[in-house]
Amino acid sequence: MRTEHSTAPVAGPSGQGATGSATAVAHPNIALIKYWGKRDQRLVLPWTSSLSMTLDLFATTTRVRLDPGAGHDTAALNGVPATGETLRRITAFLQLVRETAGSGVRAVVDTENTVPTGAGLASSASGFAALAVAAAAAYGLDLDATALSRLARRGSGSASRSLFGGFVVWHAGAETGTAAEADLGSYAEPVPAAGIDPALVVAVVDAGPKEVSSREAMRRTVDTSPLFRPWAASSEDDLADMRAALRRGDIDAVGEIAERNALGMHATMLAARPAVRYLSSATVTVLDRVLQLRREGIAAYSTMDAGPNVKVLCRRADAERVAGAVRDAVPDDTVLVAGPGPGARLLGEGT
Ligand code: PMV
Repeated sequence: MRTEHSTAPVAGPSGQGATGSATAVAHPNIALIKYWGKRDQRLVLPWTSSLSMTLDLFATTTRVRLDPGAGHDTAALNGVPATGETLRRITAFLQLVRETAGSGVRAVVDTENTVPTGAGLASSASGFAALAVAAAAAYGLDLDATALSRLARRGSGSASRSLFGGFVVWHAGAETGTAAEADLGSYAEPVPAAGIDPALVVAVVDAGPKEVSSREAMRRTVDTSPLFRPWAASSEDDLADMRAALRRGDIDAVGEIAERNALGMHATMLAARPAVRYLSSATVTVLDRVLQLRREGIAAYSTMDAGPNVKVLCRRADAERVAGAVRDAVPDDTVLVAGPGPGARLLGEGT
């Protein structure tokens, strides 16, 4: 995918007077090999490479409009003005785009998000992927999808993977070299998958915001968990096994590897000091039901992120049966079926 565009360059070398605007859409992704832990907080460089599936649900649509008269950036999420940490992160991201574009012009950001924000369903992934594509176009940067994945990474690591559809790997990049080399080496790209027709059954057992942000939980895990380094080492092996499983179209192996990688990630957090525990009793209820499905002969495998919600990987042909079983296990909760979704794209400019 390329996001070439023809926005008129910002006026003047400082970019003052720019009037660009652009709208982009992106979908969340769910990691099958997790990203957990940064080796560089500023550049958002991960300790390990990760691999995800982009979903066809929960799109985020973001419009960025440059406002030459404004003294600061403003943002609204689903019509509600952003404040505090959310606004700080958006402003820091726009500042990075401005530095690259040589512009000093502030922006107005409007985001419509259909993901339950902060519930471990990766709203930051679709959010920063859409923001990266829209802001790059509005500020007149001509970046291809690889470069946009590096840019989105700076907003939220997992956002780098939402630039692409289907299965996607985000490379950690080499640990040696200059900051510029490290930045260049850490990008996302699509992964070939032979003949797989997967679904992810998403059990939203808690749509509320999480108590500990993934950013803080990662930092604490890397700094204090005796299990972090061993998991990081085994995750590199999981990634190699996962890529091979995708190449040969072996969805059972894909599921097994994804489940062990996610449980391992949660083990690293449980061993952090103090512990971070995102998994709730409802999570465990779903995990038990998924195990039971396997005993019944259905290939279904669980994965969880920085929250209690469970995503169950299965064949698309089995998705309704798996969803039914999960609904029976947690009858009061929302259960949705997602398939592989598309990469981020520009919807329009000057819109
Ligand atoms: O959304 P971020 O960039 O703060 O990272 C979240 C990491 C996990 O969702 C837990 C795992 C992953 O690889 O997406």
